[in-house]
Parts: sequence; structure tokens; C-alpha cells
Amino acid sequence: PLPIILDCDPGHDDAIALILALASPELELKAVTTSAGNQTPEKTLRNALRILTLLQRSDIPVAGGAVKPLMRELIIADNVHGKSGLDGPELPEPNFAPQQCHAVELIAKTLRESTEPVTIVATGPLTNIALLLTSHAELQPKIARIVIMGGAAGLGNWTPAAEFNIYVDPEAAEIVFQSGLPMVMAGLDVTHRAQIMSEDIERFRQLGNPVSAVVADLLDFFMEYHKQEKWGFQGAPLHDPCTIAWLIKPSMFTCVERWVGVETQGKYTQGMTVVDYYGLTNNAPNTTVMMDIDRQAFVDLLVERVGTA
Ligand code: BDR
Ligand code: CA
Repeated sequence: PLPIILDCDPGHDDAIALILALASPELELKAVTTSAGNQTPEKTLRNALRILTLLQRSDIPVAGGAVKPLMRELIIADNVHGKSGLDGPELPEPNFAPQQCHAVELIAKTLRESTEPVTIVATGPLTNIALLLTSHAELQPKIARIVIMGGAAGLGNWTPAAEFNIYVDPEAAEIVFQSGLPMVMAGLDVTHRAQIMSEDIERFRQLGNPVSAVVADLLDFFMEYHKQEKWGFQGAPLHDPCTIAWLIKPSMFTCVERWVGVETQGKYTQGMTVVDYYGLTNNAPNTTVMMDIDRQAFVDLLVERVGTA
């Protein structure tokens, strides 16, 4: 199996990404680290521990990371994810403790100890990953690629130009995109096509195991925010699991290779991922950008895997 580390800010869709990763034999999840984003750092860490407790995977090392973005104050998305960061389902209290080290140190240790390069998946703001790259440059060869949920080639969901994860810590995102490591980006172009519909939620509920019940309740809550007319969605875009699904079955996705940079200063465009679609900068592509998804195959994969969780 492919070794991965998940840096996340659970968050409803982060939680489902974590569940999908652990239910997939193609992947070996070596560590989970948490970023501040959807909720405060204390809450996202606690939520990761609660999901792993539900999955009876207290063997996975977990560590909390940076408490705020590199140069800015933290913005949280409690309007989307609620007071706890995972409102909706009943979740167990954590039955194990996080590691007594910073997320960056847990990632560094995991990379150091791995005999093969490890894929880093990041589904929250990129603060921890930027800190890792700047403080442990010697570990770059141990990173196979960085797969992120963030940004877009032409959309925004927090401002007209910016997606939430990138908007929270654009300086960190720019460091990560310009690191020279192979980048894979699940931005809003693809995640807005990865929508879960009400009938899909019923498929999860009918699986009838404790994890599937939680997934259905998570999705019910997540759906509420996305019902607002301004989005024009039929369901809820399941952003973060696109990263894991791409690792499991890349053939479900349509991707392009492009140069991507992050706007850190624009008047209207802070936190925008600038995707050089037509090669106008002559910069060599640095990112595999997901643009489209076979939605039905994605939902079927999720249902199949949650059925085994
Ligand atoms: C991203 O922001 C968060 O609210 C979600 O968990 C996802 O990572 C979508 O913009
Ligand atoms: Ca997230």
C-alpha cells in the first residue's frame, strides 16, 4: 500500500476523507496531524481523535499543529461545520491521547523513519506543511508528492476569488506550491462536481454500520449549509475526500498539468490560486490540477468503502 500522512482540520468532509483512507487497502495511513481552520486548533485535534476512536484506530499517531496561520489571524468556518467543527452526529469522546509533539515533528519523524517516500495529503490550511518544508528541507526527498484540497482554477467559496483553505493561510500555500515537490490539487473546479445528493446519503444510512450512520449524519448537517440558493447546488460538494479518491482511483478524475501560484496581496484576490491555464507565464507546470470527476464512480467508491468500515 501507498504510505500517506493526512494533515486535516476536521471538519465534516475531512472526517469522511479520514474514514475513506482507513477503509482503503490501497493506502497505509501512517500519521494524522491537525491544522487550525474549520475550527480552532483544539477542536480540530479533538475531532480527529474522536473519529479515530469511532474507527477503533487509536494505533494511528496523531499530533496537533500550528495554532494560527504563518502571518495572519485565524479565520474559522463555524458557519459551515458548527460549534464543535463536526456538528450533527453523536461521536465518542477520544479514548487516546495525541503525541506530545508538534504536528511538524510527527510528520518529520514519520518521513525519516519511512523506507520509501511518503505522500502528504493536506485537507486544511497549509500552515503545518509550509513549516515542515521550511524547517526540514533535508526531508524533501522523503516526500513523494503533496495532494491538497484547496484553491480553484476559476472559482471562490470564501471570497469571489479564493477558496477557504488557501484564503486562511495564503503565505503558507505559496511556500508549498513553489516548493518544487510534485503537487496535486483538488480545487473547487472538481470538488463542486463531487456532490453528494440526498439519495446518496440514504445509501450510506442503509449500510447500517456505526460508521455509516455517522457518515450519513455528517452529510445531513453538511448539506444544510450548501442548500443556500446562492450556490445553485443540487447536493453538497464533498471537497476533501477527492484527495484520497484520487490516490485510490486516479482514473475517475480528469486532470491538467499547470503552473499554479498563490496571490498573497491582491485587493480583491488574496488567497486566490492563480492557475496558468494557457501557459502565459512560460513557467513549467508545478501542479496536477483536477478539473472533473466521474461523480457516480466517486459516490459508489465511498459507499463501498464505508460499507467495510
Ligand atoms: C474546504 O474548506 C473546509 O471548510 C472544508 O473542510 C474543505 O477542506 C473547502 O473550501
Ligand atoms: Ca478541510
